[in-house]
Amino acid sequence: MKILITGGCGFIGSNLAIFLKQNIQNAKITSVDNLSRKGSSLNHKILSKKKIKNFKLNISKVTTFKKFQRFDLIIHCAAEPAIEASRNKIDEVFNSNLIGTFNILKKCAKDKSNIIYLSSSRVYAMENLFRLKKGISIKENFNVENYKSIYGFTKLSSELLIKEYSYLHKIKYIINRVALVSGPWQFGKEEQGFVSLWVWRHLNRLKLNYIGFEGKGKQVRDVLHIQDLCELILLQIKKLKKINNKLMNVGGGKKNSLNLLRLTELSRKVSKNKIRIGSIKKTSPYDVPYFVTNNSYVTKLYKWKPKRNLKKIITDLYFWMKPNKNILKKYF
Ligand SMILES: NC(=O)c1ccc[n+]([C@@H]2O[C@H](COP(=O)([O-])OP(=O)(O)OC[C@H]3O[C@@H](n4cnc5c(N)ncnc54)[C@H](O)[C@@H]3O)[C@@H](O)[C@H]2O)c1
Repeated sequence: MKILITGGCGFIGSNLAIFLKQNIQNAKITSVDNLSRKGSSLNHKILSKKKIKNFKLNISKVTTFKKFQRFDLIIHCAAEPAIEASRNKIDEVFNSNLIGTFNILKKCAKDKSNIIYLSSSRVYAMENLFRLKKGISIKENFNVENYKSIYGFTKLSSELLIKEYSYLHKIKYIINRVALVSGPWQFGKEEQGFVSLWVWRHLNRLKLNYIGFEGKGKQVRDVLHIQDLCELILLQIKKLKKINNKLMNVGGGKKNSLNLLRLTELSRKVSKNKIRIGSIKKTSPYDVPYFVTNNSYVTKLYKWKPKRNLKKIITDLYFWMKPNKNILKKYF
């Protein structure tokens, strides 16, 4: 099976590339990544060692992919995923995330390749998320109208484009609305998500802040181990002939949800370091106080559930970061 992973040198893409190569017999994995994420060049070296080729191309500019062979499946991970980039890198977010999807779909249509898309829980409308009470979770038919950040807009627009292309060109798709993912190969930079940031700062005894919602550290999210996501995508590939043209939430779920205070507690336990944590009251326009994934549909379709708990996520991150500390510092 020939698989192209876009963003194959990113956190999720590189984990997936290696995992799928190990777990699908005769799989030929190729990556396309422009290495715009600082740190992706390190992942690139790892992929090269595993004989996974990367084409250094910007998917928002390449429209023909002339050099490329035909792929049976494209797993579309390339994007500018940082939520704050919706404010300070808006052209990059729009072009990479939406024009990039458009170009990838043209390649899918030409070759009749199927597509698995890494969308985001950020497609849900923010004003509704604000009204969510603890314990209520969001199903796939939840409100996506109204504002959601430019990032969320590009992910939702990409979903709609994929559906149009699938209808017109008879290609099969799976759309995963992914919540927060973490684990080894997430570098601990601010824009990559708070879990790896917390673990990195504890490891290096650096200061942190509880930001937003009065600075009390009470906002809640669920976290999914990267390995659980890789296992789900392998299942999706294996079952694509039977289960296709579906859209689903994918996340750590209620059991894997926590607030920042609890994350501090776990990070302290694992690192055995206690660091100073300040407080900034002001809330960013794109922060939400509570989001926990409702996995009931993905579980029904694939009998899949996250296997790895929060302690495992934090422990795996910590024991990957610790020996690689000096290498990782170069990519900050
Ligand atoms: N990490 C998460 O918690 C999370 C949650 C929900 C959804 N997602 C989605 O999963 C996907 C992967 O996220 P990630 O965390 O691995 O991010 P990442 O930044 O680590 O990886 C993205 C990769 O895409 C590449 N890229 C960006 N723009 C490109 C372009 N124009 N052309 C070619 N390559 C380009 C970057 O160099 C990077 O290597 C994204 O689509 C993101 O929206 C991630």
